[in-house]
Parts: sequence; structure tokens; C-alpha cells
Amino acid sequence: MTSTVLVTGGAGYIGSHTCLRLLECGYRVIVLDNFSNSSPEALNRVQSLTGKTLEIITGDVNDGAALNTLFARHQIDAVVHFAGLKAVGESVAEPLMYYHNNVSGAVSLLQAMQSAGVRDLVFSSSATVYGDPASLPITEDFPTSTTNPYGRSKLMIEEMLRDLYRSDASWNLALLRYFNPVGAHPSGQIGEDPAGIPNNLLPYIAQVAVGRREHLSVFGGDYETHDGTGVRDYIHVMDLAEGHVKALQWLTRKQGLAAFNLGTGSGYSVLDMLHAFERACGKTLAYQIVDRRPGDVGSCYADPTLAARELDWKAERGVNAMCADAWRWQQQNPNGYN
Ligand code: WQD
Repeated sequence: MTSTVLVTGGAGYIGSHTCLRLLECGYRVIVLDNFSNSSPEALNRVQSLTGKTLEIITGDVNDGAALNTLFARHQIDAVVHFAGLKAVGESVAEPLMYYHNNVSGAVSLLQAMQSAGVRDLVFSSSATVYGDPASLPITEDFPTSTTNPYGRSKLMIEEMLRDLYRSDASWNLALLRYFNPVGAHPSGQIGEDPAGIPNNLLPYIAQVAVGRREHLSVFGGDYETHDGTGVRDYIHVMDLAEGHVKALQWLTRKQGLAAFNLGTGSGYSVLDMLHAFERACGKTLAYQIVDRRPGDVGSCYADPTLAARELDWKAERGVNAMCADAWRWQQQNPNGYN
């Protein structure tokens, strides 16, 4: 029997890559997206790449009536919840917008699931819930702390899910804590399409490489890392997508609630990534080392052994593939989807 999965925010960066993998793995996929920070074109391309059809519903997870209609019309077996806002800086300026979209949206979705008797959820969480870790690598039992409304919204939703599970153990909940998602599908047809000036490192570097930006500003050269620049656990978005498929399979074994680090377990610095991108694009990329960005931590990378053991998942793609695939997407789509 084909499982039907509702993917909220399925037109987004990680959402579109996950929808592609779900279709390739034989799932029936329904996408709910309000397209506030994504493009329908991403879903057109997912369908053309797979030769399969998505059911696409334009709507917002805060619209409870629309959700109830959706669950009444479709026999949903599980939900993958991506829909939400995710820019740290913006969340500091607009906290209520983040709590409404992310936290209230999650409550609304969970209420609709509860009413419809759908109990299997994969939640898009983030390594940002660990704050500035006291040691490395990070395991899932590390203390959580957050320093901005975006990170707090993710942690609040994790805590809500724990309370929900305590109230009713029939829920099956996989909380996936992403480290730093980068890269694109190897076709170069779908990828990361940030609006405006990219906050994140890789899309910014890609825009320097394609000539849209003058140079990269390296936020800090005096961290206690091998070259003084910030270290992160970059993970290929295709590895991340496969992690979601494995998490859905884990849910069918009625496992209850668990959080999983989705990272490679290796940390790379800003300059490591810049040079890897230079190798991928065959150009020398200009950069300037400037002051640290407020709120940044020096180093952050995962211990991914729990996901390997419980989900039978591990990241397979290395930094060179991340940069080569990101570059192909950027070259083929210098202005993203529009
Ligand atoms: C990576 C490194 C920067 C841009 C954030 C969110 C996290 C998740 C991923 C949503 C750092 C440096 C960056 C630039 C730079 N998002 N950098 N120049 O901050 O690790 O994580 O994005 O889930 O929740 O917190 O990612 O890509 O912004 O930064 O030097 O122009 O690159 O200082 O060391 P970050 P990032």
C-alpha cells in the first residue's frame, strides 16, 4: 500500500529535495506551501526530474480550517513539517512574526493531525537549539539553549512535541536537528534560492563565483580554529533529504519520540569552504576578513552516530560534491527560480 505523506513547506530548499526523494522512493506526496519564501517552479522541476506528480495545495499551516479540509480529503499517513521562517537576523527584528509562523503554525498543524488521527510526524529542527556547545562533537543529549527568536521557536516546538508525547504516547515523532545544509540536486535544476542578500555562507560564495557579489566578507578570523575562521558541519541537502526518508521509515516502527543530529560529523572552516568552492568553479574568489558576526559560535559539528544506529542513515557526500553541485545550480540558475 503506498504511503501518503503531507510535506508542509515542500517548495522550499530542503522541502523540494525531500519531495524529490520521497517520489523516487514511491511515496504519494501532498505539498502544502504558502509560497511566501519559495517558488512553485521548484515543484514543477521536482515533477519533471522524477516524472511523477505532486499534489500541490497553496495554503498556510496557520489556517486550521484549510488543514481540516485537507486531512478530511486525503488519507494522510505521516507529515513532514518544514513550513516556517528561518533567518536568524530577521527573527531578532521580527520575533512575533517568527513565533506566529513557526510556533502557532506548529500548534495548528498538530491540532489538525490530532483531530484526523494522524500521529506520525517528522519535524524540521535545527542544530541551533544547542547554542554554543561546551564541547565537540555534539550529541543529542547535550543541553539546549538558544540566543535568538528563530532558534527559540525551534526549541519551543521541540518542547511542545515532548509535552504532546507525554500526554499521548500514541504519537511517533522524529525531531531532525540539521547542521548546515548546503549543495543542490546534481541535475542543477533545484537548489537554494535565498531572497535578497544571502545570510548563509554557501549561497553567498556561489553568488561571488557567478559575479553577483564583489567578495565574501569572512565574519571573524580570530576564532580558536585551525585557521581562525568559523567551523561548521556542512551537510549535502541530498543526504539530508535521504535522512527524512529514513526517519519516516523509523516512524512506521512505532518508536515514540526521538531527536537526531543530521550532520556529517566533520567540521570545515569558512576558508576551507571558500577554497573548496574555488576548486569547484575554477576561479579565485575574493574575500575580506571582517569582524565577527554577533551571535555566531566558533565551532559546531555533530556526532551523527545515533542517526546511523537508529535510522540506518549516514551522510555520504563530501565537501567537493557539495560545492560542485551548488556551483552547477548557481551557474544554471544565476537568478534562482525567477
Ligand atoms: C556559517 C559560517 C559564519 C556568511 C545558520 C542558522 C542555522 C541554520 C543554518 C536554519 C559561520 C560564516 C557566513 C557570510 C561568513 N539555519 N559566514 N560570511 O550561522 O552556522 O547557521 O544557518 O536552520 O539555524 O543559525 O550558518 O551559513 O550563516 O554561517 O563568514 O557571508 O560562515 O560566521 O562561521 P550558521 P551560516
